[in-house]
Amino acid sequence: MKIAISGKGGVGKTTLAALLAQAYADAGRNVLAADADPSPCLAGALGFPAELRAKLSPISEMDELIEERTGAKPGTRGGFFTINPRVDDIPDRFSVLYRGVHLLEMGSVDIGGSGCICPESAMLKTLFTHLLFRKDDVLILDMYAGVEHLGRATVDFVDAMIIVVEPTRRSLGTAAQIKELAQHIGLTRLWLVGNKVRNEDEISFLKAGTPDIPVLGFLEANLLVQEADRLGIAVYDHVPALRQSAEVMAEALDQQIAARN
Ligand SMILES: Nc1ncnc2c1ncn2[C@@H]1O[C@H](COP(=O)(O)OP(=O)(O)OP(=O)(O)O)[C@@H](O)[C@H]1O
Ligand SMILES: [Mg+2]
Repeated sequence: MKIAISGKGGVGKTTLAALLAQAYADAGRNVLAADADPSPCLAGALGFPAELRAKLSPISEMDELIEERTGAKPGTRGGFFTINPRVDDIPDRFSVLYRGVHLLEMGSVDIGGSGCICPESAMLKTLFTHLLFRKDDVLILDMYAGVEHLGRATVDFVDAMIIVVEPTRRSLGTAAQIKELAQHIGLTRLWLVGNKVRNEDEISFLKAGTPDIPVLGFLEANLLVQEADRLGIAVYDHVPALRQSAEVMAEALDQQIAARN
């Protein structure tokens, strides 16, 4: 099962990615979580201890590896390099395991509209495609807004794209844009998650404003989320209400995906 998480900046993508990853891992699933944020923070949200975080480093910053695999130094433009470097060993070699979640930091992926063709983008693009082809039990991609990482060739492998929103018009606007981009590349398996909701009114606001995407569930606004971050522990452990909501969502998503297949 491949799940991509997107949405406007700051809405709670990473928080949801961490909650779902841990929920599936605790349910006995084998989980690979890929952090595609230019400044990775999924490890923090998952409560990875410092010694394990020290072992993580974004693939996009592994200059030697990128040069070895593509045949060109990162940062170079033009010249020859392979556009489909070998990446099959990377998830196992560079992911770090904690409490059933294998975490891989991808780093910055500048493969979108800018049309960047460089060794590091070739590496990341190939790696993304590889992750989607791999037979992982559960893959969770923490993306940023947009669907740049997903090419037409790979969308068939995405079982669910979750768009996170908070009770604001702007985040709903971004959701509508993401939906449109997704449809352009043929990705239709979309779900909405409303985060940071404080009351029924906000839930109604989100339900009324969704760009016609089925709602998977809601996560309440809870100050303990920030406290977990300050304490360096997993939201999943520190905020029982969110853990419970995430468990329900994880199961519902599983069933809904199975029903569609
Ligand atoms: N349910 C919640 N209740 C309260 N605060 C929350 C909740 N979910 C997330 N936050 C807070 O909102 C901020 C953004 O959350 P998070 O990092 O998960 O969002 P994001 O969408 O991944 O952000 P970015 O776009 O920067 O990657 C964080 O400070 C987090 O602690
Ligand atoms: Mg994030």
